Amino acid sequence: MKNTRIAPSLLSADFTKLADEIEMINQSDADYLHLDIMDGLFVPNITFGWPIIKQINTICQKPLDVHLMIEKPERYISEFAEAGADILTVHYEASTHLHRTVAAIKEAGMKAGVAINPHSPVSLLSEITGDVDLVLIMSVNPGFGGQAFIVNSLKKIAEVRRIFSENNDTVLIEVDGGVNLENASEIIEAGADILVAGNAVFKSANPMETIFQFKNL
Ligand code: DX5
Ligand code: ZN
Repeated sequence: MKNTRIAPSLLSADFTKLADEIEMINQSDADYLHLDIMDGLFVPNITFGWPIIKQINTICQKPLDVHLMIEKPERYISEFAEAGADILTVHYEASTHLHRTVAAIKEAGMKAGVAINPHSPVSLLSEITGDVDLVLIMSVNPGFGGQAFIVNSLKKIAEVRRIFSENNDTVLIEVDGGVNLENASEIIEAGADILVAGNAVFKSANPMETIFQFKNL
């Protein structure tokens, strides 16, 4: 059985009980905690920034998988590193000098991820395959939790694997948006390494059990 990694997205958590939600993640089989950072420009929503991540990092025992949905993410790489991000993912569509941004993320000691929106072809990454640790395929238009999975994303998973096969066979493929217990098997079979799940975990009756079910599909 393939050991798919699960990254619950805090966006769907109850923020009035943040410490309890993070303790649940600590006790669970989750592999990462996924943190969505939005700036109200790149996406039509605003969440939180590195001061909050820094506090989360003091109580979270899982690696922090930070997904930046912000314009010009290169401005804040050292802040996210100091706050405790383990993986820092930026959007292809938001960083003009992406090659330099990816190098700076790695120099700061983090794993470097690149996310692509549903309309962006995987081929846009073909010239930086050797530089990237993780590709995040957005399977909804970023900005909000609880949206429906875009089925076209499935074929992009195999496309990432194909394009990266020559230079980088350890690249991690992460799928984010609309992932649930019903469609997860199909996404895993398509070749995903990491599944992000917001609503499917935090809005379920028993989030810890749901994470266990994701891990045992
Ligand atoms: C959306 C975010 C996702 C979101 C996923 O822009 O990047 O990480 O939290 O939420 P669900 O799993 O509910 O679609
Ligand atoms: Zn995300």
